[in-house]
Amino acid sequence: MTKLIIDGKEIDVPAEYTLLQACEAAGAEIPRFCYHERLSIAGNCRMCLVEVKGGPKPVASCAWGVRDCRPGPKGEPPEILTRSPMVKKAREGVMEFLLINHPLDCPICDQGGECDLQDQAMGYGVDTSRFAENKRAVEDKYLGALVKTSMNRCIQCTRCVRFSAEICGAPEMGATGRGEDMEITTYLEHALTSELQGNLVDICPVGALTSKPYAFAARPWELGKTQSIDVMDGLGSAIRVDTRGREVMRILPRVNDAVNEEWISDKTRHVVDGLRTQRLDRPYIRREGGLRAASWSEAFAAIAAKVGRIDGKRIGAIAGDLAALEEMFALKELLAKCGSVNLAVQGGDFFAPKAGRGSYIFNPTIAGIDQADALLIIGANPRKEAAVLNARIRKRWRSGQLKIGLIGAKPDLTYPYDYLGAGTDSLSELAGGKGAFADVLKNAKHPIVLVGGGAAARHDGAAVLA
Ligand code: SF4
Ligand code: FES
Repeated sequence: MTKLIIDGKEIDVPAEYTLLQACEAAGAEIPRFCYHERLSIAGNCRMCLVEVKGGPKPVASCAWGVRDCRPGPKGEPPEILTRSPMVKKAREGVMEFLLINHPLDCPICDQGGECDLQDQAMGYGVDTSRFAENKRAVEDKYLGALVKTSMNRCIQCTRCVRFSAEICGAPEMGATGRGEDMEITTYLEHALTSELQGNLVDICPVGALTSKPYAFAARPWELGKTQSIDVMDGLGSAIRVDTRGREVMRILPRVNDAVNEEWISDKTRHVVDGLRTQRLDRPYIRREGGLRAASWSEAFAAIAAKVGRIDGKRIGAIAGDLAALEEMFALKELLAKCGSVNLAVQGGDFFAPKAGRGSYIFNPTIAGIDQADALLIIGANPRKEAAVLNARIRKRWRSGQLKIGLIGAKPDLTYPYDYLGAGTDSLSELAGGKGAFADVLKNAKHPIVLVGGGAAARHDGAAVLA
């Protein structure tokens, strides 16, 4: 631990902290644009300047380590000031620079009301500018159907570049040019391919990257906010559902370090489309070879007519994965009234109740991936099935402490893995202790086995699970 005095308050912080983290631990508020807790440090916006007592000029606190601070002449702990006149002037200067080329089009910008630049200009800027020159113009870039760009607004914090490279594992964004000519782009202007690209909209601190489907749909202060849990994959990410009146307008992530950290997949974010457009909100009856819209009473009459003609035992029902317990119970009761017991739940996997919850829950926990030293993936493509889980695995892999093996189809997972084979024979070889990965598993302190739904839904699923 290292002792520091921050704004007159003495505090002990771990030596590997940055000054920004230390200041936050002391309760000081440090404005920032490029710094993000879950990304590498770039130190290029200079908004986080603080004064280190005795230093000739302010320092960027996000890129300055606590262990780099020198003690005073008599060995006193280093003293940091976050509210001194020097810091105030420095922040005003940085803000003035950041706004030289920013279009200041807040009234027509989708980020208005939830924009870091807007908020921090209000809190730390001044109300005038000494720059009367024309603002530079940057062409908007095409990034696909989900992310809209307005590159005049970009302050080149490079959060999006680091996010794509580090978290998504799809280094598709970058910067070309230098100085005033610098532009953020996908180089060849193609659509982004990452299944986490919606998060770019959240991490961009200005309105340069906004949501294309949500463009000009609502302002943040019009929306009611309801905390919820995502059901689009098995992860159960923490989400916030924003509504206006009866309509769901958008879905955003909430921070939950135990599950999704602060990311959600594009499937989770954009499933809201299914509630608003092309929603199946009325019954249809097939007549003359085509589906025709009908009223509920017509639909029930049609069902009753058909069911009445059939022997109850020949009626079957299939419940979807997302049906609620009450709905399935009601369906079972209905079938029982008809004299049938043929209720199947979609999936058809071999998770047997007699094997207990341990056979299907993710025992090591999602946060447990951060400690894992070996991971065996069987019959799963986490990148497609649970993109945020895949990002978590990638995060651990980037630390260099996770070895990964895979049995099943060979997907691109954004990190390398040992491919052990496609079938159950590879699995039984591994179980028999054959191959280098068997040793990795044997020697691992915190191994994880990740079994996909695909592996359990096979005809020999029970054997795979065993
Ligand atoms: S587009 Fe947004 S996130 Fe990317 S560099 Fe510009 S301001 Fe930063
Ligand atoms: S937040 Fe420190 S330089 Fe950008």
